[in-house]
Amino acid sequence: MYKFDREAYKKRVEWYQHDRFGMFIHWGIYAVPARGEWVRSTERISVEDYEPFFKEFNPVDYDPKEWARLAKKAGMKYAVLTAKHHDGFCLFDSKLTDYKSTNTLCGRDLVREYLDAFRAEGLKVGLYYSLLDWHHPDYPHYGDRNHPMRDNEAFKDYQYNFDNYLEYLHGQVRELCTNYGKLDVMWFDFSYEQMEGEKWKATELVRMIRSLQPTVIIDNRLEVSGTGFGTLLTENPSEYCGDFVSPEQIIPPKGIVDYKGDPAVWEACFTMNNNWGYCAADKNFKPASLLIHKLVECVSKGGNMLLNVGPDARGNIPEESKQILTEMGKWMDKNGESIYGCTFSDIEKPENGRITKKGNKLYYHLYEGAIYEIPLIGIPREKVEKVRLLCDGSEVKISTNWTAMNYPDTVFVKFSDSPILPDATDTVLEVTLKD
Ligand code: GLC
Repeated sequence: MYKFDREAYKKRVEWYQHDRFGMFIHWGIYAVPARGEWVRSTERISVEDYEPFFKEFNPVDYDPKEWARLAKKAGMKYAVLTAKHHDGFCLFDSKLTDYKSTNTLCGRDLVREYLDAFRAEGLKVGLYYSLLDWHHPDYPHYGDRNHPMRDNEAFKDYQYNFDNYLEYLHGQVRELCTNYGKLDVMWFDFSYEQMEGEKWKATELVRMIRSLQPTVIIDNRLEVSGTGFGTLLTENPSEYCGDFVSPEQIIPPKGIVDYKGDPAVWEACFTMNNNWGYCAADKNFKPASLLIHKLVECVSKGGNMLLNVGPDARGNIPEESKQILTEMGKWMDKNGESIYGCTFSDIEKPENGRITKKGNKLYYHLYEGAIYEIPLIGIPREKVEKVRLLCDGSEVKISTNWTAMNYPDTVFVKFSDSPILPDATDTVLEVTLKD
């Protein structure tokens, strides 16, 4: 019987828990209609009516080196690209289908170029692979929860052979794990209703992946959807439970713990606007300051953040996303130490910000100034060796003011005469504790 190896697991996820911040990339021919990656499903578009977008797709501006530089400058340490999304279009040169980027006008293996470019920037690389496939003839159509033809009576008696689809899915995953060098993340999306676990022949699939890519880490969606945690958090995880929980568009209010109350490995994925795939009309971008706070929040609760970009049909990351990433990068440049290798502290969330922790260092992320001195809660003064402003390393003096003496578990500091914090988004104080 299968026995989950906790030691091997801890080792496998070490880099991932250190790196904390990654780029999600949703890209495909759905960038042409430009109404998000679910367009075929939401608008009930048939395979035939979707065909023009395949014929037209020609991302002349695709420059994955530029994407990789952008991700790196933002402080991201890894990336995950959609090798195939629900519409079934493959961004790689699969031998098992004609429905692939090498057969479009661009004639390029978009996955290979992405992998080469991101690796060259020293980033870890991952691939997203959709378990759903709305192009494959042997994927359930009528009556399925998501398929574009789910309520089209013409498909009511349509005969399909799901085993053929499984062979295709397994075959493509084998191609990705064999032909593209070392992969760091495999991101499957997603299980629903009875389409979960062994319906995908998940045990067999995971065994194959682990034999070809022994160090890769896998998300939990072969077992669950974005909403479930899966058996990873239980005493006896299944063989296909994956390596991390994948909350989507939400930050778990108190982080995520396993059955023993120990912190679990998780990654929250977010869109920058309201769509994963390119959506020309969606200009609802979150400000960089908010996304910085959300990154800090994830880390302060022991998780990662995977932030999405949806490049357009020409292969450009939207200007708004570039700006957000550049701004985040400026902050990360100065304050990355309070993110990488950091996790939650045992101190309750302060009113004026958040805390992340690494070894004997606590990072107080200040979002709000004070009337006079700034309280750093949860640490007795005698435990503090020193306080520094993280962005420039300058000394921050600990108060000996008589008004502070009533609060022995709080250190009060003051680092300038101005009531305005030096970084309006998040001013980070690095507190070194005595051993
Ligand atoms: C959802 C959507 C999908 C997206 C994914 C990212 O499950 O189906 O479009 O790729 O979330 O987590």
